[in-house]
Amino acid sequence: MDTRATRSGWLVSVSVWRVLFTEVNYLGTLSHPYLVKLVGYCLEDEQRLLVYEFMPRGSLENHLFRRSSYFQPLSWNLRMKIALGAAKGLAYLHSDEAKVIYRDFKTSNVLLDANFNAKLSDFGLAKDGPTGDKSHVSTRVMGTHGYAAPEYLATGHLTTKSDVYSFGVVLLEMLSGRRALDKNRPNGEHNLVEWARPYLRSKRRIFRILDPRLGGQYSLARAQKAAALALQCLSVESRHRPSMDEVVTALEQLQDTKEGGNHHLQKRPGSRSLDNNGGKAAGKGKPAPHVKPV
Ligand SMILES: Nc1ncnc2c1ncn2[C@@H]1O[C@H](COP(=O)(O)OP(=O)(O)OP(=O)(O)O)[C@@H](O)[C@H]1O
Ligand SMILES: [Mg+2]
Repeated sequence: MDTRATRSGWLVSVSVWRVLFTEVNYLGTLSHPYLVKLVGYCLEDEQRLLVYEFMPRGSLENHLFRRSSYFQPLSWNLRMKIALGAAKGLAYLHSDEAKVIYRDFKTSNVLLDANFNAKLSDFGLAKDGPTGDKSHVSTRVMGTHGYAAPEYLATGHLTTKSDVYSFGVVLLEMLSGRRALDKNRPNGEHNLVEWARPYLRSKRRIFRILDPRLGGQYSLARAQKAAALALQCLSVESRHRPSMDEVVTALEQLQDTKEGGNHHLQKRPGSRSLDNNGGKAAGKGKPAPHVKPV
C-alpha cells in the first residue's frame, strides 16, 4: 500500500497524527551516520511538516530509474557502496540499541549525500521491534507493494527478517536496474523477484538479470556473490534469510578497496556530470533542509 494515501487526507488526520508522532519520536531519539536527521517539525492548523537534513543527491530511486541526462547510471562500485550504507542503517535499526523494524524499506527512502553515502529516511511506518521470539502481528498490512515479505503479506507477522526481504528486493533493483513492480515490462516480467529468482539461482545465468548499463564494470565472481546475497535475503522462509549484520559483512567484502574519488562515477557521452562540483542537486553553499508535508 502506498503510505502517501494514508498521509495526505484531512479526513484521516488521526492516523496522520499517529504516524507523525511515531516518526518524530523515532527520528528524534535515533542518531546514526546512516539515518537521515530529523531537524524539526512544524504543526500549525492544517500544516504538518517534518524538516529533514537535506540530502543533496536525492533518492536512490531517482538515480536507478529516472531516465534523463541528469541522472547518469550509477557505477557498480557506487551501487555496492550505497547497498552497504543502507544495510548498515538497517542493521543499526535492528540492533539492541534501537530495536526498530523499518517496515517500509524501498529505494525512495534511501537518500544520498554529496559523496553518495546512503542514509535511510521516513520512519513513519516503523514500530518498536519485538522482544524475544515474539513478532508483531498487525491486521493491517502496511508498506509498499513489491517490497513486502510474503509472510508479512499473508499473516501480518512482522519481524526484522521482513526488512531483510525488502532489502533483498532493493539489492535486486540495484543489480538489475529494474523496478520491483513494473507494469510496462512484458508479461512474466512485471514482478522483479518472480522474474529474477530462476536467474539468481543459476551462477551461469545471473548475467541475464544484471543491468546492461553496468557494462563490464564488475567481475563475474563479485556479481555472483551479490546475486547470491540477494537470493538469500529473498528466501521465502524467513529463517533462511541472513541477519542485517550478516548482510553488512557480506557487502563489506564486495566493496571497492580504492575508496573515494570520481573513479566511482561512470560518465556517459553527452550526459551532465554528477561529479563533486558539477551536480546541480549538490548546489553551492549551505543546503536548505528538506521539508516534507505529512
Ligand atoms: N531529506 C531529503 N533530502 C532531499 N530529498 C529528499 C529528502 N526526503 C525526500 N526527498 C526526495 O523527495 C522524494 C519523495 O520523498 P517522500 O518520502 O515524500 O516520498 P516516497 O519516499 O516516495 O514515499 P513515502 O512517503 O512512502 O516515504 C524522494 O524520493 C526524494 O527524491
Ligand atoms: Mg520517503
